[in-house]
Amino acid sequence: MSRVALVTGGSRGIGAAISKALQAAGYTVVANYAGNDEAAAKFTAETGIKTYKWSVADYDACSAGIEKIEAEVGPIDVLVNNAGITRDAPFHKMTREQWNEVIDTNLSGIFNMTHPLWAKMRERKFGRIVNISSINGQKGQFGQANYSAAKAGDLGFTKALAQEGARAGITVNAICPGYIATEMVMAVPEKVREAIIGQIPVGRLGEPEEIARCVVFLSSDDAGFITGSTITANGGQYFV
Ligand code: CAA
Repeated sequence: MSRVALVTGGSRGIGAAISKALQAAGYTVVANYAGNDEAAAKFTAETGIKTYKWSVADYDACSAGIEKIEAEVGPIDVLVNNAGITRDAPFHKMTREQWNEVIDTNLSGIFNMTHPLWAKMRERKFGRIVNISSINGQKGQFGQANYSAAKAGDLGFTKALAQEGARAGITVNAICPGYIATEMVMAVPEKVREAIIGQIPVGRLGEPEEIARCVVFLSSDDAGFITGSTITANGGQYFV
């Protein structure tokens, strides 16, 4: 029986590429999404990948969603915490709502998804958790005090949990994508985006598939000795 992988925010952007790459690698993939029913239905029609709707910012919804997937599809072996949002604003204009929404989704979201699954993975003595952080969690970004704080928090979470999961056969790793050609990056004002591309030594935005391939590797048996690590995939824009 093939392993089951759950990708949050898995029907659009980088998440959709991750879902498809894991499917191509032989996993039974299910995707979570929060809002866009139309995109999710289209994604399912194209790929055959089932989608489940809830917000990762809601702990009880995460818990219920995981129970439902395990009952309908089987035990979840691979969790990809990909769901994320931006609410960019310079700090002097940032509202508490913008701060809270980003922290609740991008940081607490990975707690909400991982926590209900953790005991099950420990019991089964196997798990792969891949957290999608960001270059902006590593270097900080003007206009993203909320996002940078959450994404840096995701890296701390990854390193702490890796130590706890190691003896139970669970690896916990992070990927820090740079600027990837998705709707999220295309929403950045064009002038700002062009300036950012100018700072990328490879001279282009990344492709979602370039991140998806990292996830497939970290999810595999071949990556069993890699835990607590961060793969930086940003075209040379920032070195850690
Ligand atoms: N460094 C220094 N100063 C900057 C700056 C920067 N990076 N960006 C803007 N400024 C300055 C501007 O030059 C301007 O200065 P003046 O008033 O002296 O002209 C001032 O800040 C205000 O700029 P704006 O008029 O653009 O202000 P705004 O409120 O309209 O927008 C912003 C500010 C929301 C931060 C906008 O600049 C923006 O969207 N920036 C991009 C932020 C970004 O990179 N987000 C990443 C999204 S993609 C993602 O998050 C995925 C991932 O993981 C990589």
